[in-house]
Parts: sequence; structure tokens; C-alpha cells
Amino acid sequence: MKANAVTASYKRWAPVYDSVFGRLLHEGRQRAAGHATARGGEVLEVGVGTGLALPLYGPGVKITGIDFSAEMLARAEEKVRQHGMENVTLRQMDAQKLDFPDASFDTVSAMHVLSVVPDPEQALSEIARVCRPGAHVLITNHFAADKGALKLAERLIQPLQHHLGWQADFPIARVLGDPRLRMVERRPLPPLGVMTWLVLERI
Ligand SMILES: C[S@@+](CC[C@H](N)C(=O)[O-])C[C@H]1O[C@@H](n2cnc3c(N)ncnc32)[C@H](O)[C@@H]1O
Repeated sequence: MKANAVTASYKRWAPVYDSVFGRLLHEGRQRAAGHATARGGEVLEVGVGTGLALPLYGPGVKITGIDFSAEMLARAEEKVRQHGMENVTLRQMDAQKLDFPDASFDTVSAMHVLSVVPDPEQALSEIARVCRPGAHVLITNHFAADKGALKLAERLIQPLQHHLGWQADFPIARVLGDPRLRMVERRPLPPLGVMTWLVLERI
């Protein structure tokens, strides 16, 4: 993905994002917010978008949400105001260059963002850096299918990636390569198991 295409794409998505992806991707967000809340402490949500997950966290965690898109963040800010969430801080930031000290967070979530950023390995390297030892990284994403109709569909829509705002045939191997992050859980998520839930633990 190219950075300027991503920026333009999410400027277009911002006004309609919640209507299109709110319910569709709800289960992954709920699972991530529940997992982070159960662990407690400091949570970083990378690519927080319009903040759809923010009201799903419990009050006991301190949440920092970052996103590159001013238009998506403005919607997240609106939700924080509406729900009076005093435990949430939002900042405009690039996932590939996080402005936080090493070992700052107990949980980092990256929902539907790693197939969007131009350099997912760099974003994961930054995520690993800001994780405390033993921290969990929660990833929800669509990953490239090995075969079948889904693989064909991915191939057909892949040329539209810069318009859509994500890479449709994103290989899971691209999020499993950082030696500081060990996979501890992997399972399918709705719709129809097309999405994947991953938990990586910071060694
Ligand atoms: C598909 S949306 C996912 C939003 C939210 N996590 C969710 O699940 O609804 C992808 C988000 O990643 C953000 N994004 C893209 N590139 C980014 C970058 N380099 N740094 C931070 N956020 C980025 C986009 O602006 C967009 O809000």
C-alpha cells in the first residue's frame, strides 16, 4: 500500500465507515476489548480508526488510540466525548514510527490495520518495541486464502487495493516474522471465518 493512497482512501471511508464495517467486524473488536480489559493496565490501539472498539473496553484500562487519518480520528474523538471516556487518549501518529518509549504497554491491538500500512513488518517492529515483556498483541485481519473461491475473489479485487484502502491478498507470514513476538492463539472470526484472530506474546 502507498501512504498517500491510504490517506485518501480513509478520508473517503470516514463518513460511512461505521455503517459499512460496524456490525460486520464487531466480534473481533469485542474479543480484543474483552481480552485487553481482562489483562488490565495500559492498552495501545494502533489504527484506532473511528473508535468503534473504544466503548467496548472496561473502565479499568487506560487506552491510547493512534491513527494516521485526521478524518477517522475526528470520529473517534466524537465517540470519546459522547461516551465521556476519561480513560482514552487519542493521537495522530504513524504506526510505523510510534512516538512512545520502549516497553510502554501491556496490550497492543492492531485491528484491520496491518494489511493497510505500507510496511507492516516495520509497524510490528514498533509494536514489539513498545510492548512490555509478556504483553499481548491482538491482531484481527483478513489474510490471504490458500485456495478456493476466496482466493479467486482476492485476486479479482487486488488491483483495487489503493482505492479500497487495504491489501486483499495479505499473507499471514508478514505478521509472524518478528522474533520478539510468539504466536499463542489463532482462530477464525466472522463473517464466515474470513477474518482471523491472533494473539502474539512479547518475549
Ligand atoms: C480498516 S481501518 C480499521 C479501523 C479500526 N481498527 C477498526 O477495526 O474498525 C484501518 C485504519 O488504519 C489507519 N492507518 C492506515 N495507515 C496507518 C498508519 N501508517 N499509521 C496509523 N494508522 C494507519 C487508517 O487511517 C484506518 O483508520
